Amino acid sequence: MTSGSPIGAEKLNDDVAWEDFDPREYINHNYLVLHPDDEEIISVVRDHFSSHFGASGGVPTGIDVGAGPNIYPALAMLPWCDKITLLERSPANVQYLGAQCESYADHWDQFWDVLRRDPAYRGLGADPRARFAQTVHPRLGNLFDLCRGDERWSLGTMFFVAESITTSREEFRRGVGCFMKALEPGAPFAAAFMEHSRGYRVGDSSFPAFDIDDQEVRDALGPYAEKVETHRLGQPGGLLREGYTGMIVACGHRGG
Ligand SMILES: C[S@@+](CC[C@H](N)C(=O)[O-])C[C@H]1O[C@@H](n2cnc3c(N)ncnc32)[C@H](O)[C@@H]1O
Repeated sequence: MTSGSPIGAEKLNDDVAWEDFDPREYINHNYLVLHPDDEEIISVVRDHFSSHFGASGGVPTGIDVGAGPNIYPALAMLPWCDKITLLERSPANVQYLGAQCESYADHWDQFWDVLRRDPAYRGLGADPRARFAQTVHPRLGNLFDLCRGDERWSLGTMFFVAESITTSREEFRRGVGCFMKALEPGAPFAAAFMEHSRGYRVGDSSFPAFDIDDQEVRDALGPYAEKVETHRLGQPGGLLREGYTGMIVACGHRGG
């Protein structure tokens, strides 16, 4: 995410033209090459899921919320779920994900190689495209509607979403809450956040962010989560993505 120009008036989630989010620009800037920060996040999330499930198999359903065009959270859930929902508000991203599900692009192989350092992932082979196509289902939808419905998932991820879709603390907290409420009690989850983001640009469009730190993440997750561990990554890949000070990945389990 390149730096944006969000300083000024509050921008709520509904104020943003999410249909202008350009998946190709976003991929070209962030995910064509595997960066050290993503490698570290993927390793933390892989180990969290692998140590939770161990040899016990998996669960029927997983969800990645605000997937954008990023499929690595879905790859991280792949050994553990029969069905994975990729919930996303922008129709352009949903369309992009649909094409990736049929046969995802070669640049994602680097991300799968990091996951394959764990035997459970290695067991799916060097090319899990067929399983990915069967398992992963993009869906147009809104994070904030997850609180209203009855649908629940047994594994969840949300990467760079709750703090990167609004400038409002109330919406950030509600976004984290809706993600957590969509999970079954005891479900493992992983959520990643941009620390102190000032907003970001994708192509010609700018998008808002709410300025968070580790304590803000813990406070937002606290009412819903058990055994939360946060890891702070201080830009191990340098300043490729400007306008923030680091990344925070939180892993834990849904309480209840
Ligand atoms: C910064 S991007 C993160 C994309 C991806 N998760 C990643 O790891 O790179 C934020 C994403 O949230 C989506 N989004 C914005 N508001 C949303 C909402 N209310 N419900 C679901 N997705 C939303 C945007 O369209 C965008 O794809």
